[in-house]
Amino acid sequence: MEYRGLIREKRSPRTTFLPFALPYITQAEIDEVVDTLRSGWLTTGPKTKRFEREFAQRVGAPYALAVNSATAAMHLALDAIGLQPGDEVIVPDYTFTATAEVVVYFRARPILVDVDPVTCNIDPAQLEKHITPRTRAIMVVHIAGLPAEMDAIHAIAKAYSLPVIEDAAHAFPAKYRGQMIGTISDFTAFSFYVTKPLTTGEGGMLTTANPEYAERIAMMTLHGISRDAWKRYTSEGSWYYEVLQAGYKYNMTDIAAAIGLHQLARSEWLLERRRAIAQRYTDAFSRLPELETPLNPAHIEHAWHLYMLRLNLERLTITRDAFIQTLTKASIGSSVHFIPLHLHPYYRDMYQLAARDFPAALHAYQRVISLPIYPSMTDEDVKDVIAAVEQIIVAHRK
Ligand SMILES: Cc1ncc(COP(=O)(O)O)c(C=O)c1O
Repeated sequence: MEYRGLIREKRSPRTTFLPFALPYITQAEIDEVVDTLRSGWLTTGPKTKRFEREFAQRVGAPYALAVNSATAAMHLALDAIGLQPGDEVIVPDYTFTATAEVVVYFRARPILVDVDPVTCNIDPAQLEKHITPRTRAIMVVHIAGLPAEMDAIHAIAKAYSLPVIEDAAHAFPAKYRGQMIGTISDFTAFSFYVTKPLTTGEGGMLTTANPEYAERIAMMTLHGISRDAWKRYTSEGSWYYEVLQAGYKYNMTDIAAAIGLHQLARSEWLLERRRAIAQRYTDAFSRLPELETPLNPAHIEHAWHLYMLRLNLERLTITRDAFIQTLTKASIGSSVHFIPLHLHPYYRDMYQLAARDFPAALHAYQRVISLPIYPSMTDEDVKDVIAAVEQIIVAHRK
């Protein structure tokens, strides 16, 4: 076996498994949850409202509406624009099913578009080709926390008078040309799922600058009942309410918001930790021609939710799947983001999709691995990941 001086430190094998992702929960979150439980106000209430205010302030968005998932947030955004059966919505192929399934809720059609081969974000040139007279909105995903090319996307949206909904499940906090994600488009949906950069266990937030959208979303989040329905059990509230629409049950609980308040307060530090890990990975892996490290262009601030490493399979004698198995044997958790939507039986069969129409998504998927990147990882954990990856490369280079 030829080492070519790559492995800088001989490391003994790990004795404990390093999970792919873990939340960063401190005593502050625990105390706040206990305080919430003791307060008797468990569901949407003062802590959710404070979390909305503080999140809006952090992002710089006029309105932030707390919900119980990013999926709910995207569903509410499509409801606010009045999506109808038979309408079309542009969705990148390289994403989690949530981005597309919310379109299907309306019996509308997600039009899947191939992505940029380097960033895995929607390709603006492809996007424009898929616009038809039935197109009602453009959904954008910031894969891994790397903001998509919003200038080009907005130029197209403006030309066709289409609203833009950003799926920022991975992108808090992130910036595009100095502007916070959450302030750029008609709507931005954030996820607070347990693995995400800010977690509330399950949860989400929808930001918008439009007061009419904000009012509709607040109403539809809680059964379509009249405004401030959550106050009806307080001294300011009233038992009387009116149902104005057939809404949803998407409200965030104060238990979740209690966690979110402290995650939010710590969000810059959490980002710094993820950024430092990303830097160490990139420093190590960019020396290896068998690997392609994630792009981090100067005009964006990456949220580093995921570290998506790509294998140059032409230079290796190991497949991506076997690479993952070998990492697991070395006690390192990893994952794959994403299985492109066109490969899933539902989308493939329902919309008769062919792999040849999504070459960039397919190529990225076949060689991508997401490595652990979370603030509670120690320096030793990071070194273990780097050493394990390097060892697999050295053992399997052509
Ligand atoms: C790109 C993307 N969009 C949306 C979601 C859904 O988020 P949530 O679980 O908060 O609904 C996820 C979750 O993993 C995701 O990765």
